Amino acid sequence: MKFTLLNGEIIPRSEAKVDVEDRGYQFGDGVYEVIRVYNGKLFTANEHLSRFVKSADSIGISIPYTTEQLKETLEKLIEKNKLQLGTIYMQITRGTAPRNHAFPTVKVTPTLVAYTNEVRRPEESFHTGVKAILTEDIRWLRCDIKSLNLLGNLLAKQKAVEAGCYEAIQHRGQDVTEGSSSNIYIVKNGAVMTHESNHLILKGITKDVILDVCSDNDIPFEEKTFSLDDLETADEVFLSSTTSEVMPVIEISGNKVNNGTPGEVTRKIQELFQQEIEKQCGKLAD
Ligand code: PDD
Repeated sequence: MKFTLLNGEIIPRSEAKVDVEDRGYQFGDGVYEVIRVYNGKLFTANEHLSRFVKSADSIGISIPYTTEQLKETLEKLIEKNKLQLGTIYMQITRGTAPRNHAFPTVKVTPTLVAYTNEVRRPEESFHTGVKAILTEDIRWLRCDIKSLNLLGNLLAKQKAVEAGCYEAIQHRGQDVTEGSSSNIYIVKNGAVMTHESNHLILKGITKDVILDVCSDNDIPFEEKTFSLDDLETADEVFLSSTTSEVMPVIEISGNKVNNGTPGEVTRKIQELFQQEIEKQCGKLAD
């Protein structure tokens, strides 16, 4: 039996029910996080939990637990579900109230849910790389908030899937922003470049780890907007996210990147990223 966290209590998944007037269900009025679990341990938990609090704060939801309490509860959930390799999905909504766009005027308790999923590492794709398409970024202007409202992202991802691709690389006019569920990087003359962390992208936790390992290992790294032309002429392209880690992109809209193989700098960063996981969570199985 699998267990779910609902408002501070860990209960059987089948008993975890949320009201039809929950504002998350009706408006997407809430925020979420996805945290990786390796060897039964949370990876970069503090970073994910602080982003969770920040996202909630920016839409005026106050989480009725400290991040320490949240972390302890998530650890209990991992243990209850005997999760070794996977993810924790966690979301908070403004709560249940009669449907009205404006926030409820009476005090409502936010609905907090978390559950685990068994998710393998996409190891084969780490070696082969993945394909992507390009699509105009049609999302709102607060992509820094990890909002439950993901329609723009879903439409982009679906386009990619229908084209037989792994990811959709979004752009606003000439400027590349990010993937539908990942951050995007180019490598040129050995230097890594990715969009600066502002309102147009989600500040990835994986991106922060990549940034740290690059600066610790003398790999030049710049957070700066780059163009579709830069993407087209890049030596290497890769993407990053909690579930995809560091993933080489070897083809974009039918055009090969680095002759269709993962590049040297990308492979080095993959290796350094794995070392970082192992530092926090212990040795990974081959
Ligand atoms: N997505 N940008 C977007 C739009 C994302 O949805 C994600 C993550 C990222 C990478 O963030 P991080 O490195 O913190 O995972 C960037 C998660 C995994 C998801 O929605 O499933």
